[in-house]
Amino acid sequence: MNLNTVLRRFPVRATLNDESSVVIRPLTPDDKIELRRFFLRVPAEDRYYLNNNVTAPDVIREFTDGIDMERVVPLVAESDGHIVADATLHRSRRAGRRHVGELRIVVDPEFRGRALGSRLTHELIELGRNLELQRLVFELVNLREQAAIHTASQAGFQEVAILKDRVVDMYGSLQDLVIMELSLDDPEIGHLEG
Ligand SMILES: CC(C)(COP(=O)(O)OP(=O)(O)OC[C@H]1O[C@@H](n2cnc3c(N)ncnc32)[C@H](O)[C@@H]1OP(=O)(O)O)[C@@H](O)C(=O)NCCC(=O)NCCS
Repeated sequence: MNLNTVLRRFPVRATLNDESSVVIRPLTPDDKIELRRFFLRVPAEDRYYLNNNVTAPDVIREFTDGIDMERVVPLVAESDGHIVADATLHRSRRAGRRHVGELRIVVDPEFRGRALGSRLTHELIELGRNLELQRLVFELVNLREQAAIHTASQAGFQEVAILKDRVVDMYGSLQDLVIMELSLDDPEIGHLEG
């Protein structure tokens, strides 16, 4: 499927396990202020392991104004006009790696533990499948991103490699990087309703 067809699914309303609901939709240039407010609510330790300085206004501007869906498909979850999660599917520019997608997900601390992270993981799996990707990957810091390791394995991702001492954590200690992968060859994986 092409991107436009894939994105026709959105916006989609998701009910969380406390019966509250959020709207999941692609990020837009109008999200600048709320996206920055969202990342400011994310604990500094969680932000430390992300790839960018996500509270810097110019980085936010790059995210919202430089959207290139062929490279990154950015979804957000919205509640009462506030962004409460950011979930992105990244694809390499290199032709030989276009069949692989990397997932990144961050949920507002107030919204954690209500199944939003799992729902967004499944949304990204569905996106990856519809874009005809073959493999999805999470790169997670052992011990420091344990909730994400748990969420990924619940969604069917398997640990395929551990890169020893690849990350210096916020406290100056070396931590292993855990590579978790999901093969999309199985047609039963990653189908969402609605
Ligand atoms: C990882 C994250 C996205 C999960 O979001 P969430 O909305 O809390 O996830 P869910 O409520 O769907 O929970 C998913 C699973 O993780 C489990 N979990 C939640 N917090 C956990 C923790 N601290 N340690 C272990 N497991 C945990 C839940 O119990 C649930 O498992 P279950 O289905 O067996 O009950 C969220 O914790 C987060 O934003 N973390 C910081 C950013 C991060 O590390 N992102 C990954 C980098 S890409």
